[in-house]
Amino acid sequence: MSGAEVEHQPVLCDAVLSLVKPQPGEVVVDATAGHGGHASLLARAIGSTGRLIGLDVDAGNLAKAAARVEAVCPAGGGPKCDWVRSNFAELPAVLTGLGVGSVDVILADLGPSTDQLMDSGRGLSFSEDGPLDMRLDDRLDRDAADLVNSLSESALSDLLWEHSQERYSRRIAKRICQDRRETRIRRTSELVRIVCSALGVSPHSHPGKIHPATRTFMALRMAVNSEVANLESLLKASPDLLGMGGRLAVISFHSGEDRIVKHCFLDCRRAGVYDILTKKPVPASREEAERNPRSRSAKLRVAVRVAGSAS
Ligand SMILES: C[S@@+](CC[C@H](N)C(=O)[O-])C[C@H]1O[C@@H](n2cnc3c(N)ncnc32)[C@H](O)[C@@H]1O
Repeated sequence: MSGAEVEHQPVLCDAVLSLVKPQPGEVVVDATAGHGGHASLLARAIGSTGRLIGLDVDAGNLAKAAARVEAVCPAGGGPKCDWVRSNFAELPAVLTGLGVGSVDVILADLGPSTDQLMDSGRGLSFSEDGPLDMRLDDRLDRDAADLVNSLSESALSDLLWEHSQERYSRRIAKRICQDRRETRIRRTSELVRIVCSALGVSPHSHPGKIHPATRTFMALRMAVNSEVANLESLLKASPDLLGMGGRLAVISFHSGEDRIVKHCFLDCRRAGVYDILTKKPVPASREEAERNPRSRSAKLRVAVRVAGSAS
């Protein structure tokens, strides 16, 4: 499947709007513009006196976001928009480049969009054969095949354990290293076969709820795209980028990411920099989870800057 025709459904829209409360005239950063679902809601709320800065590492998605925002804002009714193909880890430099001193809202909706996941050409999914790529940003010079074919057995095992707590990380790493001696591992279907044979299960009928290759694919995607390091950079920079009263909202999709956000917010609250608006992470309602399966693992946390910098 190309993924091009798949529309990404934004998650937790009501919760984002009711907690972030974007106001007319505010300066808002959508750090993960995607298909512009959240960006268009934010754009409508801040109106023609506001400014929207949208970032994405994927040029195709950035263009989709720009088009969607333009479509929902009647001529002259939308905010001033800047669309920047950039990693959100570079947000401080992006804002400096745009001459923006501080912002009122930063939203990050982490991970891949639905179309990226379903695009077999990107190799993010274990359910369709494709090249073992996994880059969200095609300017990165290392893809998943490079990692799988070059890391040592212990480095591969650590990668699987640290990023996705894959309990069979050693077995899988060992089998990968055995198989790649014969020939380079290039396709997602080859990796699925290797993981399943390491675990002694069939790729088609396996016990348990999740596919045996789920954690391996997630860990590789996170490593290829440096997802943890990027999130940590954004979280570290945000207190200095938000004006007083500015809100930071992060939507995460697995416990490792959510834990990082939670601890950053708690540290900043201890330092007197943030108030936390979400005592617990906000999940999708049952109705949203039924309508949009991707929302089932979504968790929203929001903090507001109340005092000086954390650094
Ligand atoms: C879950 S989607 C966002 C969907 C968006 N909120 C919407 O409503 O359509 C995540 C997007 O963030 C992008 N992305 C992932 N990591 C990024 C990063 N570190 N910096 C910038 N963009 C990133 C992906 O390319 C993808 O388009």
